[in-house]
Amino acid sequence: MRLEVDGTRLVSEIEALATISDAEPPAVTRIVFSPTDLKARGWLKARCEECGLVVRDDAIGNVFARWTGSDPAAPAIGTGSHIDAIPNAGKYDGVVGVLGGLEAIRALQRSGFRPRRSIELLMFTSEEPTRFGIGCIGSRMLSGTLSAKDARRLKDKDGASIDEVRAKVGLDGDLEAIKLRDGYYEAFVELHIEQGPQLESERIPIGVVTGIAAPASLRILIEGSSGHAGGVLMADRRDALCAAAELILAVENAARSSGARDTVATVGICEVFPGAVNSIPSRVHLSADIRDTDLKRRDRAMEQIEIASESIAEERKVSIQTELVNADAPAECAPALVEALAEACRKQQLKFLPMVSRAYHDSLFMSRIAPTAMLFIPCRNGYSHRPDEYASPEDIVRGTLVLAETLASLAK
Ligand code: GLV
Ligand code: MN
Ligand code: MN
Repeated sequence: MRLEVDGTRLVSEIEALATISDAEPPAVTRIVFSPTDLKARGWLKARCEECGLVVRDDAIGNVFARWTGSDPAAPAIGTGSHIDAIPNAGKYDGVVGVLGGLEAIRALQRSGFRPRRSIELLMFTSEEPTRFGIGCIGSRMLSGTLSAKDARRLKDKDGASIDEVRAKVGLDGDLEAIKLRDGYYEAFVELHIEQGPQLESERIPIGVVTGIAAPASLRILIEGSSGHAGGVLMADRRDALCAAAELILAVENAARSSGARDTVATVGICEVFPGAVNSIPSRVHLSADIRDTDLKRRDRAMEQIEIASESIAEERKVSIQTELVNADAPAECAPALVEALAEACRKQQLKFLPMVSRAYHDSLFMSRIAPTAMLFIPCRNGYSHRPDEYASPEDIVRGTLVLAETLASLAK
C-alpha cells in the first residue's frame, strides 16, 4: 500500500473553509447553526460526497460520512473533529481533524486499500461552548453523557432553546435517538493541533495522546446595587464589579496555589450591567473554566473558588450565585490505540511524544463509548483560539499520514 497525502489539496481546503467565517481574515468565527456554520456544513458534505462517502446527519446535526467496508455490519472505525470556531479563532482548531480525516480516507482510496470495517468521518456539533455555554454537545449526546432532556434545557444568549434552534435549521429528528448503540465504533481516533507549545519546543512532529484533562465550568451571577457614580459614597456601595474583580483573582489563585502546573483556571467572560461610565455596576455575569489532569485536584480548586465566593459575597454585601455547567472526568486513551498510533509513527519513521491533552475534545466523550485515542501535530508558538493559530503544511501532512496509516491498520 502506497499512501500519499495530497497536501496541496488539503491545505487549499483548509483555506477555503476559513473563508466561510464571520470574522475578518485571518480570524475565523463560526458559531454553531449560524448561517455561516450551515454554509460550512454544506461545503463539507459536498467534499465528502465527491469522494463517494455516504453522508447523514443525526438530530443534533452531527455529520457522519461513511466509507462502507466489505463487512458493513462490523463495528466501524471513527475519525473526525469539529468545524465550529469560537469568536476570533484560527483556521486549524478542529478543522485539521475533519479535513485531515477526509484526506486520510481519500489517500487510502487512492492507494487501492479496501477496508473491511467501515471508516466513518465525523463532524461533531458544537464542540465549542460559545452558543449554548457548554462544549461538545454533539459528542456528549452521542455518548449519552448529555441526555435529550438536559439538552432541551439548554438555551442560547437570545433565550432560544436547542429545539427552537434545530427547527430553524431543519433538524427535526428525535433527540432521544442520538446516543450511539454500544459497539457502534470499534475505535475512534481524532487528529488535532496540540494547542500548546510542547511539540514545537521539543521539535517532535507527532504527539500521541495518552489522556485528556478533566474540564469543568461555572456560570456566576453577582448582584449588588446600582446607583449614581457621583452620589453614592464609597462606604454605601455594593459594587458587583468590584466583587467580580476579587472573584476573578480568586479563580486565578485557585489554580496557581494548587501545587501543580497541570491546574489551570480562566475567567473568559465578564459582562457588566448596566455598563455605563457613571453608574455603579449592579450585576456581573462571569464564566469560570477550571481544568486539571487530576480530578481530585480540579475539584479542590473548585471548592476553593466556592469558599472565596462566599466570603466575597459576605464582605461586599452582594449575592453570588454559582451554577455548575459541567464537571467532567478526565479520559484515558485506549492503550491498544495508543500503540496503533505509535506503530504508525514508527512505520512512517516519525518521532513521537506520548503526552496529555490539556484542551478538551470530542474524544473525551467518545472515550466513554468506544476505545479512543488522539494524535497531535505542532502549532506555531503553541497558539490556538486566536487568529494567528498556525500549523505548517508539512506537519498537517505528517499527521494525516499517521492517521491514514492507523485507520488502515484498524479497518483491515
Ligand atoms: C476546546 O476548545 C477547549 O476549550 O479545550
Ligand atoms: Mn477550540
Ligand atoms: Mn478543537
